[in-house]
Amino acid sequence: MIFSWSVQLLITPRQVMSKKSKIIPIIGLQWGDEGKGKGVARIASGLSSQDLIVRFQGGNNAGHTIWHDGKCYVFHLIPSGVFGRAQIHLGAGMVVNPGALREEASTIPKKVKFLHRMTISPHAVLTLPTHILLDSVSEHTKGQRRIGSTGKGISPSYTDLVLRRALRVGDIYNPDFKKKYAALKKEHKETLEKVFKYKWKGNELSRSEKKFWAGIKFIQSLQVADSSEIVERALNAGEKVIAEGAQGALLDVRFGHYPFVTSSHTIAGGVATGLGISPHWVGEAIGILKAYATKVGEGPFPTELGGIRSRVWCRDKKVPDEKEKFSNPNPNSRDEFEQGIALRKLGNEIGATTGRLRRTGWVDIPLLKYAINMNNASKLILTKLDVLSGFKKVKICTHYTINGKKTDRVPFDLSRVKIKPIYKTFPVWKGRLFDYGSKLPPQALSYIKFLEKTLGRKIIYVGTGPEEHHVVERYWK
Ligand code: GDP
Ligand code: IMO
Ligand code: MG
Repeated sequence: MIFSWSVQLLITPRQVMSKKSKIIPIIGLQWGDEGKGKGVARIASGLSSQDLIVRFQGGNNAGHTIWHDGKCYVFHLIPSGVFGRAQIHLGAGMVVNPGALREEASTIPKKVKFLHRMTISPHAVLTLPTHILLDSVSEHTKGQRRIGSTGKGISPSYTDLVLRRALRVGDIYNPDFKKKYAALKKEHKETLEKVFKYKWKGNELSRSEKKFWAGIKFIQSLQVADSSEIVERALNAGEKVIAEGAQGALLDVRFGHYPFVTSSHTIAGGVATGLGISPHWVGEAIGILKAYATKVGEGPFPTELGGIRSRVWCRDKKVPDEKEKFSNPNPNSRDEFEQGIALRKLGNEIGATTGRLRRTGWVDIPLLKYAINMNNASKLILTKLDVLSGFKKVKICTHYTINGKKTDRVPFDLSRVKIKPIYKTFPVWKGRLFDYGSKLPPQALSYIKFLEKTLGRKIIYVGTGPEEHHVVERYWK
């Protein structure tokens, strides 16, 4: 295996795509935050102005971080390729908070002209201020059974779509939109008051409604385009289309660890339904995984460092609490809980959307195989390998023991079975990975090779830091 240090893009979208696949879904293979934003931005930098980058699901629960020109940006709704030349599209399968979209657009420097190449689907569902309230109130009443939602109103917005009463982007041009808004708000208020016994705090909706209406005005100034038309047109003309996944395969509403999931189809199958295109356009995906694992919110995490202690800590504590108690956590501590804290610190694993502590643990091969299969992820991007610098040894979970039996299959309900992960241990290189340049140390190569062999997929590049050029790319034949 030859790795080469490279700053410019060696692998063009044309090369990463096989003949049978015409759209490139970029899908997180874990619980989100794998580095999709950076991956998309990197591939997008090689696209032309005819090519297209689309979001096909999710809303501003996503937080995609990219470094551009030495500055850090977090995108929640706008596709991460906005700094390139390609067209960008907010697809039909998304839920869009209008005020959040307007604010996010204003964070992009004026010199980056993007509004003329950005379109939004009329089918995308609008997130209302009352959706956000419903999300937080319903989470609150769940108590210990809460999901750990981002509180952005995602689940209530998708619920209204399925209840067939949602307001969509296309509705805002109709003269009766305000009436429809008032009717839905009334239904939400009734649920809040009658089901959740919610007590209003003054006119608490007024600020968020002001932002909502300013956002609606902003969307009215955008170009609306049907996802299926725009994507099929680009594909038929031989242009490249990148589908930027949000969240990760293990948060898929059906195939994730239900109910600890988001409310959309995060897997590559969601590309077809989220854009209204034939599945034949979606042949294979690029899967992104971290060199370890993280999870924000509740739900099973078999390889979590520190197990339940970590889960409760991350649920109940905030960043300053952790900084105060563990100013210098030891990655080589005998206490796995402390190791998990060190991993969080080294990887800066703080939620990009909510600022929560991300739970940390080791790579889990059974779950990765499950995710790779569902997505036909034929090529992989491995991110954050540099973060393992500082550990003397790291682990990969190769199998589970469930009821005394060794298996690499993922059970239907991870929370109902007692899983004991079986680990393989790997020695770690000395010093910072970044300092090795293109010549990755043998310890890093053996870690990468083991992943490639066990997962049966090639890793097309390895992330060695957060910035655009922090990449070691594999020469392609
Ligand atoms: P996304 O939601 O999948 O786009 O990922 P996030 O942006 O939520 O989280 C990934 C974090 O890791 C961001 O802060 C990125 O800047 C950072 N990141 C991405 N790739 C690398 C890498 O290879 N090394 C390091 N150290 N950081 C990375
Ligand atoms: P990106 O795109 C990590 C998690 C939440 C919660 C569950 C449900 O940045 O990878 P929701 O608000 O969707 O109802 O929350 O899903 N979650 C994410 N975790 N990265 C994300 O997005 C996430 N989006 C949602 O923490 O556990
Ligand atoms: Mg994220």
